[in-house]
Amino acid sequence: MRSLRQHLFVLTILIITLTSTYVEICHARKNTHWRTKDEIESSFSTKKHKGKSNGTTHHNHSSKHHPSPKLNPPPPPPPPSGPSPYAPVTPAPPVLHGTTFNVLDYGAKGNGVTDDTKAFQDTWAAACKIAASTMVVPSNYEFLVGPISFAGPVCQPNLVFQANGTIVAPLNHKGFTSGLLQWIEFTKLRGITIQGRGIVEGRGNYWWNINSDSDDDPSVRFYGSYNVTVTGITIRNSPQFHLKFDTCQSVEVHGITISSPGDSPNTDGIHLQNSAGVTIHHSTLACAGDDCVSIQTGCSNVFIHDVSCGPGHGISIGGLGKDGTMAVVSGINVQNINMTGTQTAARIKTWQGGSGSVKNVRFSNIQVSEVETPIMIDQYYCNGQSHCANKSSAVTLSDITFQGIVGTYTVQPVYLACSDNTPCTNIHLADIELQPTDGINHLYGPFCWNAFGDIKAPIQPTITCLKNEK
Ligand SMILES: *[C@@H]1O[C@H](CO)[C@@H](O)[C@H](O)[C@H]1NC(C)=O
Ligand SMILES: *[C@@H]1O[C@H](CO)[C@@H](O)[C@H](O)[C@H]1NC(C)=O
Ligand SMILES: *[C@@H]1O[C@H](CO)[C@@H](O)[C@H](O)[C@H]1NC(C)=O
Ligand SMILES: *[C@@H]1O[C@H](CO)[C@@H](O)[C@H](O)[C@H]1NC(C)=O
Ligand SMILES: *[C@@H]1O[C@H](CO)[C@@H](O)[C@H](O)[C@H]1NC(C)=O
Ligand SMILES: *[C@@H]1O[C@H](CO)[C@@H](O)[C@H](O)[C@H]1NC(C)=O
Repeated sequence: MRSLRQHLFVLTILIITLTSTYVEICHARKNTHWRTKDEIESSFSTKKHKGKSNGTTHHNHSSKHHPSPKLNPPPPPPPPSGPSPYAPVTPAPPVLHGTTFNVLDYGAKGNGVTDDTKAFQDTWAAACKIAASTMVVPSNYEFLVGPISFAGPVCQPNLVFQANGTIVAPLNHKGFTSGLLQWIEFTKLRGITIQGRGIVEGRGNYWWNINSDSDDDPSVRFYGSYNVTVTGITIRNSPQFHLKFDTCQSVEVHGITISSPGDSPNTDGIHLQNSAGVTIHHSTLACAGDDCVSIQTGCSNVFIHDVSCGPGHGISIGGLGKDGTMAVVSGINVQNINMTGTQTAARIKTWQGGSGSVKNVRFSNIQVSEVETPIMIDQYYCNGQSHCANKSSAVTLSDITFQGIVGTYTVQPVYLACSDNTPCTNIHLADIELQPTDGINHLYGPFCWNAFGDIKAPIQPTITCLKNEK
């Protein structure tokens, strides 16, 4: 009897212990779960209350957002009999994939004045550790950020930068003029997507008035990355280049808007360098200061289509071969483009004295409106410098097609100035229909120098200067 009682007592203790352990585990887990949910909810609710971001200390999930996998699975306790306030929940596996990290939770203020660079860095550091996670820049906020590098050699693949809000450039001299290569950099990533309706505001009207040593610092630069997607965002008023890809592979840019006003210097829209497999489509590129898209050495398999461009300098390959350098570009396909008020529409420009080649280039179905010189090859490019010495070597140009270039021009319809020593070969002109813009005088006729190839009607105006292949 006594021993039975003892047994019962021990059993009771055991049950109580187990039950309370279960309750604790369950409570802890539930708490974690609840906190996570709360974090997300409060992120959203802060989002709704503009300018009232608060409780960042409660939201800091860089350390506790994700339960360590070691905690799971806990020993399954025997379900306590009777109703429990803690309904037995099937423990969800820790979410270590596709998690969201909001910059507000890392202390970003988003008031356009406070420097949020550190918060962005911390958010990135957390997101970077989890494959396919998303760093969120929420809408209705303006974040003063940069210069900043979202660097990835140790990051997990397929990260998403959800840009819904506005990111504004800092106004201090250490930003763009200190030899930094960019304002916002994404580097060495495997799978990076920038998406959202956000605005990247470079405040160029401030920077354009400051003399800078460098003339090609991009606002947003991708370096050494694979599988890059940029979609939805607007990049505007960049101090210099808007968007640059250097040493990247498999890049897709679509549905973006780039804009800067007419008096902005050297503000290329999209600058490509040493990159392969780039597609740019369904985008609006208005960069009065320079090229809509500029394709530099080391680029291959570039496909640009359904883009509207202007004002600006047009879509250009080059300038290549500066200071005797070697340049290699091939497989460039540009089609279905609207060009309005640009300097050129389809252009290849090389400096004298370079080497290398440009081949397999096709510009087709380009609608031009009041474009100065729609079709241009310039192997004497000198970028406004007064004395570029004559040199015999040149980047070699071959297999270049201009087809379906239609609309109005204001200076000269076709200008093909090839190198004295290495003529352009296999130039194909087809379906060219270019009319002078009404009321424009002092127009030049088509010009060719050392350009060889063929012409397929209709051609308007008549072009007689292109020589047949030798
Ligand atoms: C932020 O939260 C603290 C308590 O955590 C509260 O005292 C303070 O009033 C809150 N501030 C705002 C702006 O909501
Ligand atoms: C978040 O937590 C981490 C680690 O506990 C800490 O280093 C960091 O400063 C915290 N950030 C904020 C914004 O509180
Ligand atoms: C960001 O914007 C997209 C729509 O463009 C929306 O689906 C998403 O919920 C937004 N995310 C946040 C965190 O606001
Ligand atoms: C890029 O994406 C493709 C298709 O999604 C995938 O097969 C490839 O492994 C990715 N490349 C890298 C370097 O992640
Ligand atoms: C070009 O303009 C025409 C109308 O002139 C329009 O139908 C077409 O969608 C435009 N294409 C692009 C890429 O903007
Ligand atoms: C280069 O050659 C052109 C044509 O032969 C000539 O008119 C020009 O003066 C030369 N320029 C220089 C800097 O030698």
